[in-house]
Amino acid sequence: MEQVPLLSDALPLVASDPRWLAVALADLDAVHADHLHCERKAAQSALSLIRSYPERADLVREMARLAHDETRHVVQVAQLMSRRGQTASYDHGDAYAAALRGHIRGREPERLLDRLLVFALIEGRSAERLGLLAGALDEPKARALYASLAEAEVRHRDIFLSLARDAAPATWRARATELAGVEAEVLADHPIAARIH
Ligand SMILES: [Fe+2]
Ligand SMILES: [Fe+2]
Repeated sequence: MEQVPLLSDALPLVASDPRWLAVALADLDAVHADHLHCERKAAQSALSLIRSYPERADLVREMARLAHDETRHVVQVAQLMSRRGQTASYDHGDAYAAALRGHIRGREPERLLDRLLVFALIEGRSAERLGLLAGALDEPKARALYASLAEAEVRHRDIFLSLARDAAPATWRARATELAGVEAEVLADHPIAARIH
């Protein structure tokens, strides 16, 4: 699968509210507790695409690899939490992701395109915020972890965009722009909290 050129142009995300970083840094335990579940849900979402589209060999291969990355991220975040003496907690849901998923159209083939683009948006937003944390954390191991996770999520965004382009060559770009606009609105409506999103 070749890379999509100019991916940041294909999925232009607005910058996070500058207050988010200060709120996140003020309660890193809450951020890590949420982050663990973000990584778990990313793995589950990738596997759910395999369940829905087993006939798409590229998608099956890429999503299996991506789920593997995400479960490794769960291990890495769990290790970080252990080093901090922090116990994981139950997931109380993600209103941001739920709002985005609400824009996924119900019928195929639009449904596949929208699922891929919504996951690309979530990866892109996660990458931005993990990168902000990487730039601001004091502890060297945590900084390095967050920098490597941010890089991985950019790669994942690009995988979803490549699959979206292959699934709907004529329409994926326009729909990506549309959903990026939706994401900006969802984010603006969403309280700023010590969470990844
Ligand atoms: Fe991840
Ligand atoms: Fe990811």
